[in-house]
Amino acid sequence: MVAEVLDALRPRPGGRYADGTLGGAGHAAAILSASSPTGWLCGFDRDGVAIEAATRRLAEFAGRFELHRANFAELENFLVPGSCDGVLLDLGVSSPQLDVPERGFSFQHEGPLDMRMDDRQPVTAATLVNELPAAELAKIFWEFGDEPRSRALARAIDEARRARRLKTTGQLAALVERVNPRRGAKTHPATRVFQALRIAVNDELGSLRRGLAAAWTVLKVDGRLAVIAFHSAEDRIVKEFGRGRARDYTVPGEVDVPELRQPRAPDLRVVTRKPVEAGAAEVAANPRARSAKLRVFEKIL
Ligand SMILES: C[S@@+](CC[C@H](N)C(=O)[O-])C[C@H]1O[C@@H](n2cnc3c(N)ncnc32)[C@H](O)[C@@H]1O
Repeated sequence: MVAEVLDALRPRPGGRYADGTLGGAGHAAAILSASSPTGWLCGFDRDGVAIEAATRRLAEFAGRFELHRANFAELENFLVPGSCDGVLLDLGVSSPQLDVPERGFSFQHEGPLDMRMDDRQPVTAATLVNELPAAELAKIFWEFGDEPRSRALARAIDEARRARRLKTTGQLAALVERVNPRRGAKTHPATRVFQALRIAVNDELGSLRRGLAAAWTVLKVDGRLAVIAFHSAEDRIVKEFGRGRARDYTVPGEVDVPELRQPRAPDLRVVTRKPVEAGAAEVAANPRARSAKLRVFEKIL
């Protein structure tokens, strides 16, 4: 969704941008190119391999960017509040992460149950699968994967791991398939479980909540935040973030009780009433783009 992101962030010479999810730096390169000759970009990724790839990809823009191996939840530690014209968060995993069997992200390749974006962190998918109580595993499959058979799957994992520790993507995928036979379904039965574990291993939703707040702090007034989400739990958080700040009141607690509303001036304008989705050509070239939803917010105060 490069064209859509450029439309959203409107990069210009002299502008300052942050890319919280560099990956292979396709978006970062497009932003630097569109803001030539003096636009500047600060890029982040938790994955050391992505930082290496991005460094190579951006070599032609030397002097106009700096890159950090860090969680975008911490971008406030690297950028001055109110200093950025645009921030991009293109969430989720990258193709290189999915395609390398040793990273353990994919049930289509045999590899260790790893799934860490940042291999400096100690907790892997194997830690969760082998050590979490079954009820907590079921909650992860249900909340992060919308897996309808979450409890049956957690029970089956609990039984299997009593006999022997689950170590590989293949072992887990086969176990899921036994509990949840394919029966002609288009997607592999392990899709939801793998997605849920990945989100839990990397605390993706917690990072997103903190990252949205951090991005808002570093944006200038008139600056824009563009977020691409790939599944419903992520998109809900992004939508709620925008909705909350666009309202002219705050609510104490989780439930909106009209009598308890506190007035306040909204500081956000929702630029995209409906999320922007990838065009047919992009989906044909990259099927993962099918579920991408771009939302854009402008800071107005
Ligand atoms: C979908 S890819 C980004 C692709 C990129 N926009 C491009 O043009 O190539 C997502 C990347 O974000 C990184 N990532 C995901 N969550 C992150 C977080 N909380 N902090 C930093 N990087 C993160 C992943 O490691 C991955 O490299």
